[in-house]
Amino acid sequence: MDPRHVQLVQHSFARASRIGAHVAATFYSELFAIDPTLRPLFKGDMIALGVKLMSMLEYVVTRLDHPESMLPEVRALAVRHIDYGVESHHYATAGTALLRTLRHELGADFTPETRAAWVEAYQLLSDEMREAAYGAAPRSR
Ligand code: HEM
Repeated sequence: MDPRHVQLVQHSFARASRIGAHVAATFYSELFAIDPTLRPLFKGDMIALGVKLMSMLEYVVTRLDHPESMLPEVRALAVRHIDYGVESHHYATAGTALLRTLRHELGADFTPETRAAWVEAYQLLSDEMREAAYGAAPRSR
């Protein structure tokens, strides 16, 4: 990723994660609004899951400038998601929910350039996860 885009993602994530629990709750409500059939896949405590989600996102976001260092962790996460019942096409739904959440939480700070940077970062993450879990996912780049 272009270093400026990496910085935009890192700075906007830092801003959003100051209200981490709230961001996670917004994400799940956006996700279930887009696709209510995903709700039954989530069986555990959603507050605890929100904390795990935010800490995994932080792990990824801080490593965007050297992505190879996070790949083993990200690929293992993707393989665990097979057991949660997650399918390849769900990653696009989660990407839309993530962008809507950021727009909602960051307001005017979610500029078109920041949005483009997040699209790129999520594409990187979801391509890697889908490939690890389901095999040759179509590469978008
Ligand atoms: C794309 C990036 C994603 C990240 C960073 C992420 C992160 C996480 C994390 C950290 C956990 C906690 C359990 C673990 O570490 O194995 C988790 C669980 C889970 N995720 Fe994801 N996830 C992603 C995508 C998705 C997608 C696309 C779906 C599909 C709707 C999904 C559905 C679930 C479910 C159902 C669980 C288990 C919930 C439970 O135990 O009740 N995730 N995710």
